[in-house]
Amino acid sequence: MTAQSDRSLLEPIETASRDEIAALQLNRMQWTLHHAYKNVALYRKKFDAAGVRPDDLKSLDDLGKFPFTTAEDLRVSYPFGMFAVPREKVVRIHASSGTTGKPKVVGYTRKDIDTWAGLVARSIVASGGRPGDIIQVSYGYGLFTGGLGAHYGAEKLGCTVIPMGGGQTGKQVQLIQDFKPRIIMVTPSYMLNIIEEFERQGLDPRGSSLEIGIFGAEPWTNPMRQAIEERANIDAVDIYGLSEIIGPGVANECVETKDGPTIWEDHFYPEIINSETEATLPDGEMGELVFTSLTKEALPIIRYRTHDLTRLLPPTARSMRRMEKITGRSDDMLIIRGVNVFPTQIEEIVCKRHGLSPYFEIDLSKHGNMDHVELKVERKPKPEAGYSDAKAIAALQQDVKTYVGISTKVTIVDVGAIPRSVGKAKRVFDHRKESSK
Ligand code: DLL
Repeated sequence: MTAQSDRSLLEPIETASRDEIAALQLNRMQWTLHHAYKNVALYRKKFDAAGVRPDDLKSLDDLGKFPFTTAEDLRVSYPFGMFAVPREKVVRIHASSGTTGKPKVVGYTRKDIDTWAGLVARSIVASGGRPGDIIQVSYGYGLFTGGLGAHYGAEKLGCTVIPMGGGQTGKQVQLIQDFKPRIIMVTPSYMLNIIEEFERQGLDPRGSSLEIGIFGAEPWTNPMRQAIEERANIDAVDIYGLSEIIGPGVANECVETKDGPTIWEDHFYPEIINSETEATLPDGEMGELVFTSLTKEALPIIRYRTHDLTRLLPPTARSMRRMEKITGRSDDMLIIRGVNVFPTQIEEIVCKRHGLSPYFEIDLSKHGNMDHVELKVERKPKPEAGYSDAKAIAALQQDVKTYVGISTKVTIVDVGAIPRSVGKAKRVFDHRKESSK
């Protein structure tokens, strides 16, 4: 597949000059800082403690003087303490659960919902979509921002939405067969399950009506992109976002380049910092992504530490900067016998190996004082000629040792042995604390 975005649908700011974008950003950033300082006690306290006032921002670089916002700030403000508008002006709430403590609650004014829908519509255009397309939304609906975020954006663009939500994989396939969507919006790991369900039913996923998949909400690699594109004969593009910033549609890849999500810089100002020193890093350097919202009313967010690891790249298909496909989150990073490991590194290796499916699980335990890693990978239903489990095990162990730097015990398991996920996949099971007790 080779979809193209319809350039007649681009907004002028997407191709504006960098000066024009910077001027808009400065103006909006000044508004955001004043709005946050005036209306949110937590920001006032933090700014005062740091000795900064909104008026101190004279240029975009001055943002570095302002304090960071963290997930903890949202948690201590639970549920509505960070809203900058009266609660009656908030027309929608979402929340993301996280792994510990209270959920992070986010709110939207009517204008925020409209901004968000506009950005998802822009993201769908970047992915090659256009008004009139049928879009199956298979992200979960509810407090998670995926389903409703995609839904409002698709409607705003003028598409026909199938609000399928996550799960009921058999029905997902049936609706694709019957309603013939051109686009699906879903997590990449759940897309694999949908493809598998086609095959299970004896249908060829390459022959479906789908031409474009807009995948996000979890890290996924270029080899995974290739695997999905080949198996489903679609263009697979990356959509990025997080609830605290707005939801899906903070950044989206352009289908014509597929070179990392373009950040919608007219609404979100990105920075990369060194997680330990908190110093701002220049474009091109790897670090933690930090965002400042530029237009949000209900929940202005200043220098929010996402924990997502990536780097900023120069503009290509649009005038706005891109981010490299996310390697992982700093809190997903495993330290195995002193080596830093991201599950995406394992995904890359597994996806490239013949005879294996992209379903895997990493089990960590302690053998005495030593970390022990077991990597379970599923065999394909019909492996290529010449495949053997023994060869696959030896090759995987070798590749993981060479490219990641750790020794693993690889086990090849039968089709279906790795549990399938509906939304974000869980691939790591760390039993090290229990097994060392
Ligand atoms: O996952 C929003 C979303 C929904 C994005 C649908 C894209 C599509 P949260 O549940 O708050 O929001 O999780 C946000 O998910 O900080 C990243 O770690 C991860 N993430 C989201 N998109 C991507 C992506 C939604 N394209 C967290 N690549 C973020 C890698 C992603 N990681």
